[in-house]
Amino acid sequence: MSAKHHVEMFLSEEKVDKRIKEMGEQISRDYAGKNVHLICVLKGGSFFMCELAKRITIPVTLDFMSVSSYGGGTESSGVIRIVKDLDEPLEGKDVIIVEDIIDSGRTLKHLMKLLESRKPASLRLCTLLDKPDRRVVDVNVDYTGFAIPDEFVVGYGLDYDQMYRNLPYIGIVKFD
Ligand code: IMP
Ligand code: MG
Repeated sequence: MSAKHHVEMFLSEEKVDKRIKEMGEQISRDYAGKNVHLICVLKGGSFFMCELAKRITIPVTLDFMSVSSYGGGTESSGVIRIVKDLDEPLEGKDVIIVEDIIDSGRTLKHLMKLLESRKPASLRLCTLLDKPDRRVVDVNVDYTGFAIPDEFVVGYGLDYDQMYRNLPYIGIVKFD
């Protein structure tokens, strides 16, 4: 059971879509003449990856993986497990990990190390949201949609107890 709460609008659908369009254009410029291989971290990254991929104008391939670092609550446990691995090898590819949010950075630190060992030509990190104040371990973020304050957010793929992923905007969970 989740605690009594409500969701307040934080970043509107228009704002988020506009920013994703800019990020897609930036990636298309940075990787001009190449193909880019996007890796979606499920489930949260899926909404962002679909929108981002549509805004990239160079050839794109996609793959999905699922790692777990959270229980039902709002705090990272620091325990990371691969729930679903990638279907394709990464060797020689220009890879971008697409995440919904970077919080403590623990998940990404672990994931970057793992994917680096599969010998991609390059490996970058793209996140829709970043909470820099919450960082516990160092991670280098190449593309950030929005840097946000330390609040628990939902929508655009992000959940609270598996709810609200389908909101077309980013909201803040307020506990009553
Ligand atoms: P980290 O390992 O602490 O950086 O946790 C990253 C993961 O925690 C994200 O991919 C999300 O799944 C989840 N997470 C962190 N902050 C939030 C939030 O504000 N709302 C929803 N999920 C979050
Ligand atoms: Mg996630």
